[in-house]
Amino acid sequence: MPHDFSHISAARLTALVAAAPKAELHLHIEGTLEPELAFEIGRRNGVALPFPDPAAMRRAYAFTDLQSFLDIYYAAAAVLLHEQDFFDLAWAYLVKAAADNVARAEIFFDPQTHTARGVPFETVVRGLARAVERARAELGVSAALIMCFLRHLSEREAFETLERSEPYREHFIGVGLDSGERGNPPEKFTGVFAKCRALGLHAVAHAGEEGPPASITGALDALGAERIDHGVRCLEDPAVVARLVRDRIPLTVCPFSNVKLRVFDRLADHNLPRLLAAGLRASLHSDDPAYFGGSVNDNYRGSLAALPLTAADAYTLLRNSLESSFLEPSEVIRHVTRLDEVFAAG
Ligand code: ADE
Ligand code: ZN
Repeated sequence: MPHDFSHISAARLTALVAAAPKAELHLHIEGTLEPELAFEIGRRNGVALPFPDPAAMRRAYAFTDLQSFLDIYYAAAAVLLHEQDFFDLAWAYLVKAAADNVARAEIFFDPQTHTARGVPFETVVRGLARAVERARAELGVSAALIMCFLRHLSEREAFETLERSEPYREHFIGVGLDSGERGNPPEKFTGVFAKCRALGLHAVAHAGEEGPPASITGALDALGAERIDHGVRCLEDPAVVARLVRDRIPLTVCPFSNVKLRVFDRLADHNLPRLLAAGLRASLHSDDPAYFGGSVNDNYRGSLAALPLTAADAYTLLRNSLESSFLEPSEVIRHVTRLDEVFAAG
C-alpha cells in the first residue's frame, strides 16, 4: 500500500494503532499476574504473599534494575500450583490481548520457576495449553507457547527441563532464554539450544537488555536466535547494528519495561526512534504488563505520546510485529492486509 500517512492526526493514530491487528511476541505469562488474581489464587491455595493486599503489592513495584523486579516476580509466581491456576492466568491475559486486537500471541513461560517448587511440568503446560486452545476457539486469537530457560540456572538444568518437556512437545513452538542477563552470557546455553534447534524448535533469546552488544552477537552465533528480545543496547556497537539490519533480525522492544527496569530513565529517552532510523526490524511488546504499567496497546499509546514517532513508524512497528511472528506466511499476509485496511481508513 502507499505509505503516505501524513494526514493522520495524533489522536486518530492512537485509535488506529489500538484497532490494528498486531502480534505480541515478548510476553511472559508469569508477568501478566495482576495482584488481584495473585491474591485470589493465593487464597484458594493457602499460599501467603509477602504483602498485606493487592494495593501494597503494587506499591512495591519500584524497581531499580532487572534483578529487583525478578525477585518480586518469582515470589508472586509461588501462588501458582494447579492446572486451573495456570489456565486462569493465561485466560485472563488472552481476554485482554483480544481487546487489544492481538491477532497472534507467542507467549513465554518459565517452567523452571514452577518445577523448582514441586509443581509438575505437565500441570503448567496443560493449564496454559488449555487457555491457548480456548482463545483460538472463542476469541479468534492465535496463540502459541515458547518455553524459556532461566539463564541464572545451569545448562544441565536446562537440559533436564527439555527432557521433561518431551511428552508435551506439541504444546510449544520454540525455546527462549530469560532471567538475569548479567553474568549469564548466551554461550552458557550453546549445547541445549543446539539440541532444541535439531528438534525443529524455534529459538529466541533475551539479549542486550542489561547486557552489552556482545550478548546479542552471542545469542545469534551461539544459540542461533531467530529473534532478539529487547536488543536495545545494540546501538552501542555499529557493527552489531549493521549485522542486525543486514540479516533482518527482529528486535522485540518493550518500552514500558525498559523504563521500569531503568534501562532508560524516562520514556522520552527511549532509543526506539533511533532503532527505527537505523533500519532495525523493531516491534513493540509488553514484556510483563502486570508489573510495568500496561498492555501492548498501552506501550504503543505511551511511546507515540512520548517519542518523536510518525504514523509511518507506527505502521512499521505493527507490520514488523506480524512479519516477525512464527505464523505461516499466508496468515501473516492475511493480518497485514487487515492492517493495511485499518490504516487506509485512517
Ligand atoms: N523475565 C521476565 N521478564 C524479563 C525481562 N525483562 N528480562 C529477563 N527476564 C525476564
Ligand atoms: Zn522479557
